[in-house]
Amino acid sequence: MFGSVYHGKRVLVTGHTGFKGSWLTLWLHAMGAKVSGYALAPLHADDLKHFIPREVLEHEWIADLRDREKLLEAIQTAKPDLIMHLAAQPLVRLSYKEPLETFSVNAWGTALLLETVRETGCTAPVIVVTSDKCYLNQNLGRPFSEDDPLGGHDVYSMSKAATELVVAAWHASFFAREPGRGRLASVRAGNVIGGGDYAADRILPDCTRAQVAGEPVILRNPSATRPWQHVLECLSGYLNVGQHLFADPGCKELLNLNFGPDPESERSVGEVVKAFFDTWPGRWEARPDPSAVPEATRLTLSHQKATRLFGWRPVWDFQKATQVTAEWYRVRHTQKDADMLALTRQQIMDYAAQARSAGLPWTN
Ligand SMILES: NC(=O)c1ccc[n+]([C@@H]2O[C@H](COP(=O)([O-])OP(=O)(O)OC[C@H]3O[C@@H](n4cnc5c(N)ncnc54)[C@H](O)[C@@H]3O)[C@@H](O)[C@H]2O)c1
Repeated sequence: MFGSVYHGKRVLVTGHTGFKGSWLTLWLHAMGAKVSGYALAPLHADDLKHFIPREVLEHEWIADLRDREKLLEAIQTAKPDLIMHLAAQPLVRLSYKEPLETFSVNAWGTALLLETVRETGCTAPVIVVTSDKCYLNQNLGRPFSEDDPLGGHDVYSMSKAATELVVAAWHASFFAREPGRGRLASVRAGNVIGGGDYAADRILPDCTRAQVAGEPVILRNPSATRPWQHVLECLSGYLNVGQHLFADPGCKELLNLNFGPDPESERSVGEVVKAFFDTWPGRWEARPDPSAVPEATRLTLSHQKATRLFGWRPVWDFQKATQVTAEWYRVRHTQKDADMLALTRQQIMDYAAQARSAGLPWTN
């Protein structure tokens, strides 16, 4: 996979204790990468991170991104060939409660990371994970492409737009100009689903918590539409970017890329819940919350640029993505002593096998 470029590479993953970071750690490790992690401790007792043996990681720092001394130590010790920056406050609703913390971790934390990379003389390229919400949502009736204006009506979206501006400024001012410096890329994905995520206010973790409690899941906004995709889809995109940053560091088009699903995966919250319950039967109730904070109702991403550049495209359709996700949670919560590490690794291999059958270039 990925031209074997990750075999033996030292990769520092920030946010490795989180949902995406845990899957990424396992995928990189399966490809022979030497993975180190830097993040806060996992937040939830059921998080995927708890199933990952410590020896999968070369080094691990449980520390705040804004702890400059620790970050310096991590980069100097891990000596990464590539940094994948996923650490962030990722929740829109929490950003209403903790606006300064959200802005600080997401934008300032990214700036600190990039400055620390420079300070240590590290020449690794850095891939910064932002979000579809970094785009100014003007309800234009078409998917966002990479050149669309950035902006945000809520603090989370603004913090991700600000993170994009940090990346663009550090790229133009330093990373693209300083001899020998690795390059920067920002990557944007949609609403991600997959096993092992227990974050608050995300719909499939909400369904799982309701199932475990034997209660119906309450839907605040069942008609809100989102571009759903399995976590392995966006990770395959990020890994494609890494591969091409190594192969063609001067390629300006790698600076920002969308990895959204196909239009058939733009579905309402009601549809995703129904698809989840097809695999793990349960009940739901629509109960609009008049005090709910405003959230954009329609956000979609065009992945045309990634398709043109390296033939990336989604592998699992909406049905398959929700089915494997529901299967992960169902096994976790209904089978005593289920081997979740083995199931997660199997889902990664199944995804790669299907991508290979579909002829995706990254599978070579
Ligand atoms: N999950 C989604 O649907 C989605 C969609 C678009 C973008 N994203 C982005 O993807 C990235 C990963 O998201 P996720 O879903 O895995 O979130 P998550 O909450 O599961 O993980 C976040 C990670 O960041 C770490 N972190 C948070 N604050 C930190 C701090 N102050 N110092 C150090 N580490 C800190 C956490 O410890 C954790 O490891 C984020 O940048 C998020 O904004 C996620």
